[in-house]
Amino acid sequence: ATEARVAALLQTLTIQEKIGQLQQVQGGGGHIPDTLAQAIRDGAIGSIINEVNAQTVARLQAIAMNESRSGIPLLIGRDVIHGFATVFPIPLGMASSWNPEAVERASRIAAHEASAHGVNWTFAPMLDIGRDPRWGRVAEGFGEDPWLTGVLGAAAVRGFQGEDLTAPGSIAACAKHFVGYGASESGRDYNSTNIAPRELRDVHLPPFEAAVQAGVATVMTSFSDIDGVPATANRELLEDVLRSLWGFNGMVVSDWDSVRHLSVHGLTVDDRGSACQAALAGVDMEMASTTYAAHLESLVADGVVPMALLDRMVANVLRLKVRLGLFEQPVIDQAQLPLVGNEAHLIAAREIARESIVLLTNTMHDGSYLLPLDASALRRLAVIGPLADDAYEQLGTWIFDGDASLSTTVRQALQSAVSSNTEVVYARGLATTRSHDTSGFADAVLCASNADVAVLVLGEEAILSGEAHCRADISLPGAQEALLDAIVATGTPVVLVVMAGRPLALERVAHKVHALFYAWHPGSQAGPALTDLLFGQHSPSARLPVTLPRVSGQIPMYYAHKHTGKPATPETVVDMQDIHPRAPQLSIGNTSFHLDVHPSPLFPFGYGLTYTWVDYDAPTVHRAEVPLDGTVEISATITNRGAHHVTEVVQLYIRDLVGSVTRPVKELKGFQRIPLAPGERRTVHFSLPVKALAFTHRDLSRRAEAGRFHAWVAAHSATQAHVEFTVHA
Ligand code: IFM
Repeated sequence: ATEARVAALLQTLTIQEKIGQLQQVQGGGGHIPDTLAQAIRDGAIGSIINEVNAQTVARLQAIAMNESRSGIPLLIGRDVIHGFATVFPIPLGMASSWNPEAVERASRIAAHEASAHGVNWTFAPMLDIGRDPRWGRVAEGFGEDPWLTGVLGAAAVRGFQGEDLTAPGSIAACAKHFVGYGASESGRDYNSTNIAPRELRDVHLPPFEAAVQAGVATVMTSFSDIDGVPATANRELLEDVLRSLWGFNGMVVSDWDSVRHLSVHGLTVDDRGSACQAALAGVDMEMASTTYAAHLESLVADGVVPMALLDRMVANVLRLKVRLGLFEQPVIDQAQLPLVGNEAHLIAAREIARESIVLLTNTMHDGSYLLPLDASALRRLAVIGPLADDAYEQLGTWIFDGDASLSTTVRQALQSAVSSNTEVVYARGLATTRSHDTSGFADAVLCASNADVAVLVLGEEAILSGEAHCRADISLPGAQEALLDAIVATGTPVVLVVMAGRPLALERVAHKVHALFYAWHPGSQAGPALTDLLFGQHSPSARLPVTLPRVSGQIPMYYAHKHTGKPATPETVVDMQDIHPRAPQLSIGNTSFHLDVHPSPLFPFGYGLTYTWVDYDAPTVHRAEVPLDGTVEISATITNRGAHHVTEVVQLYIRDLVGSVTRPVKELKGFQRIPLAPGERRTVHFSLPVKALAFTHRDLSRRAEAGRFHAWVAAHSATQAHVEFTVHA
């Protein structure tokens, strides 16, 4: 029925109206300029981006449906990335929950709030693989691993779109940026990418395939180019992979001006050439630039762009409008939706933030644990740092509609969590994370000196990550290390809380403090979520979705690297202790390492502590030999040895020992979140179909291969105990 309706609609349109459906333009920010109203009446606009005033959207839809000849409603797009008014942790933070239900729930709430403002389409989730933390957009993705990104990306799609796209509160999702944007050279935004064919297929494409399987309605092309072909003109990827191989029948939108950019890339001479290449590649809708509007009609008339292709492009837009139910209900009646920023949404934001804050260290000098803090024993609690009491900065990047008045900061939450017997003292220390003005240090030191514990909140403001906000040096900016040193020198136990939009290189500071939380930008409920963990109402459960390097020079550093012919060995590390200052003259085994830094990361992918100790028994496989069309059954028994209830994220990794091409040293193939009571022992079981071991071969076909494998059932990616199995043909 949908296809028949789309075909019927298509027939009613003139060629100009068809091309109009392919144009997305910027909204007027709460008012409707006459030129925009007229363009809509003329049928020259298919979509508006960035209009979130519900009354204005209603008026825009009325103009489109009642005052234009074609009567077709508008798509209203907005970057609803990690919440709308209620802000959830940045996607990289949510990825640390390793909890698809949490991502789905956050996306659902964001969709409800956005929908109440007239939005029917979000440009999320971002599925770019983030292996270079210099790149500001790592904040917006789900980390370095293709499988984890695919699982969480699919969850986000389910959350935004719901079971039924026509239901109130469902909005269309957009898998972006297709594809390879995360590999921008040197982590500099919009830069070229050099992605080898197998890496493209095994690392960058799989999350998009997962989103397509989850039914994502739209896909956005990337700004970047791959091996000389900008993604917006990449017919091989859009047509051959996305549509033909994966069967995607949704709509493809360009990124902002990225059709026009084809000439800036030097791929085309002018806008006409750009419109031509983008259309032939399979880009249906043009965001912001207007090359389709200016040139498609003549390109069709000249026979360069076939009329059938134009019809398919328009059909893809119309199909989405039909699927969203826009013809019947162009604007959702707000009464059908929960109130924006309501109590239930804030509770969800608190719970999800709590699951996203990773505990990385927790030890006192005598070997005991600093955390959780006993609130009743605290006489004075110092809260220090430029991010400890900033309602806005804790929200992170891409929060156009974020309402900072819904925020509770760390200082506020701690103040209301303690009893009247505890004094909470506060000093900002530095005006901003980038500041070098140390005049606030004296106050901060005074605060810490007389306290039982100091909670020091450092990191990066929201503006230091996100689109076009890349950094070459990812250590703590400004004078924050000096502030930390000054606070540590007081002798007061220090809990460092890092709020940031990327992994920071913390080698110089991580082990100076007694406990370290990596909180990312936690969103509206940063304070209550952190307080829940600090005082032990809940045990931390989050795990790193990215590797934390020691220093910037180690980048790129990710767990699923190749073994190489000369891997660094334990002897390398021993030798390194002796090399200074004679390093340049020494040969210490010619292995793959840097002379000036330990070859391991500071914290490995998958790492994170709880308030207990969970023992892992050695994993077992049920049958050590499985056929290529079989399933490997792997189990391990885990035991909670501590006194706290925890959720343990149990991770399954495999290694393909010998392949027809070289294989990563480990690859994540599964995980389960297992609640464990004190003393509880549980056997965790994974069924892994051999086809999940597929990789791209020399002939670029993707299939599993017979051979020997190692499997780990583990707390993170850097554990040792494994079991072996063999796949036979
Ligand atoms: O959705 C974004 C995209 O990720 C980057 N450029 C602008 C788009 C719309 O705001």
